[in-house]
Amino acid sequence: LLFSMIHTGSDKRIDRFTKKSKEEAVKGKRNILAAGLILALSASVWGCQSREKGAGEENVPEFVLTYAENQAEDYPTTQGAYRFAELVKQRTGGKVEILINAEGILGDERTVIEQLQFGGVDFARVSLSPLSEFVPELNVLQLPYLYTGAEHMWKVLEGEIGDSFLGSFEGSSLVALSWYDAGARNFYNSVRPIEKLEDMKGLTIRVQESELMSDSIRVLGAVPKQMAYGEVYSGLQTGEIDGAENNWPSYESTRHYEVARYYTIDEHTRVPELQLAAQSTWDKLPEEYRIIITQCAKESARYERSLWKEREAQSEQNIREAGCIITELSKEEKSRFQAAVMPMYGKYCSDYVDMIDRIVAEGR
Ligand code: GCU
Repeated sequence: LLFSMIHTGSDKRIDRFTKKSKEEAVKGKRNILAAGLILALSASVWGCQSREKGAGEENVPEFVLTYAENQAEDYPTTQGAYRFAELVKQRTGGKVEILINAEGILGDERTVIEQLQFGGVDFARVSLSPLSEFVPELNVLQLPYLYTGAEHMWKVLEGEIGDSFLGSFEGSSLVALSWYDAGARNFYNSVRPIEKLEDMKGLTIRVQESELMSDSIRVLGAVPKQMAYGEVYSGLQTGEIDGAENNWPSYESTRHYEVARYYTIDEHTRVPELQLAAQSTWDKLPEEYRIIITQCAKESARYERSLWKEREAQSEQNIREAGCIITELSKEEKSRFQAAVMPMYGKYCSDYVDMIDRIVAEGR
């Protein structure tokens, strides 16, 4: 059932994609041109290097592929991507070269997902929030207050449930390779500390490009504003938004903490991330390479998770040292936040009640 529903979803998303606005189409084309240029340049650079080394044909890559990542170079997910590319290169004897494009240079996450759908980008690591707009069933895995903690989330993602979601992409324009960690998300703003539900009232909060996230903000009494990740700093600086929400490493890495000093530990959601491949690219790869790539993606995910753990703790410490005002929601207040967002379960995931029950049961 899950499979067939997801396939229906994928048809819808192709419709939606073809109906995109002219402006988006132009933006997409620009990004494809940029990706093409990078690919061509990198391929020629690689060709030169091989010649300089005097290497034979066997050292020339058969495939030079692009990978989009919107975080900074030193961020755990980017480091995971480099590990992935390194492993793939090693195990294919240099036949598959994956070029990592970090810092969002191939476009924001939504644009990257669109490009993946037709192979304008070959690989990417994206957050489930924007991805759920294309594959609505994924909303189940990013419901507010769904997991009791990291351990619970990983039990779900690494078990049968996680596998069934990975497998459910089959027949769509995307191939799901492996889960990446992104910790828990918390609210921050430049106006006041959030200590109780009423403190949310009237604040304009940036959210990812996700209707579920926008609605969650509304039911908490604040005003949502969808915005690409790369635009949040200036949004905070100019006062276009009062705040946003994210994990410790993102809050630090983007320097949002400089312009929004009140951070509240409320852990309202854990949004897993996925490494994806474009189905059209995948179809061109020999089976032998696909097996290697899938294996390397999983290994890189384990590496990313270990880096994540360290970075999460380090970022929290740095933020505290930077003098930000950190508030932790009391148990009672957290229950009020939880109760407020409960309608999201019915509104976005009413077809998946059994699946939600199974996920919740894994946390007991
Ligand atoms: C996290 C996530 C990014 C995402 C960002 C956001 O940092 O890792 O992929 O773009 O949240 O809030 O948009």
